[in-house]
Amino acid sequence: MSMVTVNDYNSINYADIPLDVNWNDSNENELSMHTIHAYPAKFPAFMATKAFEYAQNEGVVISTVADIFCGCGTVALESKLHNYDFWGCDINPVATLIAKVKSNNYCIELVKKYFEGIREFYSKCTLEESAYKEANSRLQYWYTEKSYCELLKIYLAINHVVDDEKYCEAFKCIFSAILKACSKWLTKSIKPQIDPKKNDIDVFRRFESQYNKLLKSIEEMDVRNCSSVIQCGNFLSLKKLPKADLIVTSPPYVTSYEYADLHQLSSLWLQYTNDYRELRKGSIGSVYNSNDFSIDLDGLNDTGREIVQSLIENDKSSAKVKSVARYFSDMQKVVEKCTTILNPGGMIFFVVGDTEYKSVKIQNSKHLIESLEKNRYTDIKISKRTISKGICVPYRDKKGKFSTDKLNRKVYHEEFIISGRM
Ligand SMILES: C[S@@+](CC[C@H](N)C(=O)[O-])C[C@H]1O[C@@H](n2cnc3c(N)ncnc32)[C@H](O)[C@@H]1O
Repeated sequence: MSMVTVNDYNSINYADIPLDVNWNDSNENELSMHTIHAYPAKFPAFMATKAFEYAQNEGVVISTVADIFCGCGTVALESKLHNYDFWGCDINPVATLIAKVKSNNYCIELVKKYFEGIREFYSKCTLEESAYKEANSRLQYWYTEKSYCELLKIYLAINHVVDDEKYCEAFKCIFSAILKACSKWLTKSIKPQIDPKKNDIDVFRRFESQYNKLLKSIEEMDVRNCSSVIQCGNFLSLKKLPKADLIVTSPPYVTSYEYADLHQLSSLWLQYTNDYRELRKGSIGSVYNSNDFSIDLDGLNDTGREIVQSLIENDKSSAKVKSVARYFSDMQKVVEKCTTILNPGGMIFFVVGDTEYKSVKIQNSKHLIESLEKNRYTDIKISKRTISKGICVPYRDKKGKFSTDKLNRKVYHEEFIISGRM
């Protein structure tokens, strides 16, 4: 993998950075454990492996890896496969549930025993007639009475039968993974919208097939003894942070995915909240995270300030402008906070994409490099990769939201890999 050295964030032409095909693909198939639960903007597992390889070639001695936006645990699982200790955090409780399940070791016989217990409880379970009427109104919106009641029986069975927290999380993860398919949610849609033509499916069958998938994934894995700590919380508010030799992370994109909205079925079912909108708070990049934020141009670095100024000139009143400003401000704090995690000689790896709003280029890569420079990271380097098909949706609709529609504007077809040393 080749990386271009950056001596000054202002002196390079980001568009001219050569594409390095070595960051593009891998011949190795991903372990099925990586696919136990869908997650938007999950990055391919080989990115983590390549980052490990690159860091080692540059002389980093890796013992502990961290991912401050760990999402569904791609870096966590790859760290485990390499026998590195891991620490990760994410603000989205659904993300940390998946990441934990991927990082744990399980006894296959116990998983099977619990499943049979769940099946038995489910088959004997009868619900009160009022069960659906008493459901959270948002769940009533997404489910027919039949599907809701079937899911409720499985949920009650998990809670009643699985008395070990680690295994309970595994079954909740299986449950969470089928919630969209069993609902009226438009299949594969990255926006929460109802598909009026969608029919009810056999809920328990779907649960069983997802269980078989997890079982197979566990069978594929060897037991590892390295430690893995996954924390749910806002990285910017966490007080106690670990030490790590390497941080590999992909920050959220600005104003694109609304993780809290996209995971509302899971967070409501698993009772992380009664109102999924509460989970938008603190979520970096969320349009809704800047309601109580006022733009402070002086607090932004030069790149951030210039971009926000251009946006203001184009669109004075937009909430979008405010959220871009908030995004830059948050990312500056993130880069600063990462200095407290990295051991001397440690390395940080960011995977980010640039975008555009109302013809203004939002250069996240340049902003990030300037932030690294300002925080005295050394040996800053950059490379570029193309985003493979199916991994990310590279189109944006008129509102600037991610879209799979090829008639829309294509923006995220490339992304940058940016590294720095402590
Ligand atoms: C691009 S995704 C990371 C995906 C991850 N690399 C994977 O493979 O699953 C960015 C993540 O940042 C999380 N996030 C957003 N704001 C956060 C915050 N303030 N603290 C911690 N995590 C946050 C989102 O919930 C999302 O999971």
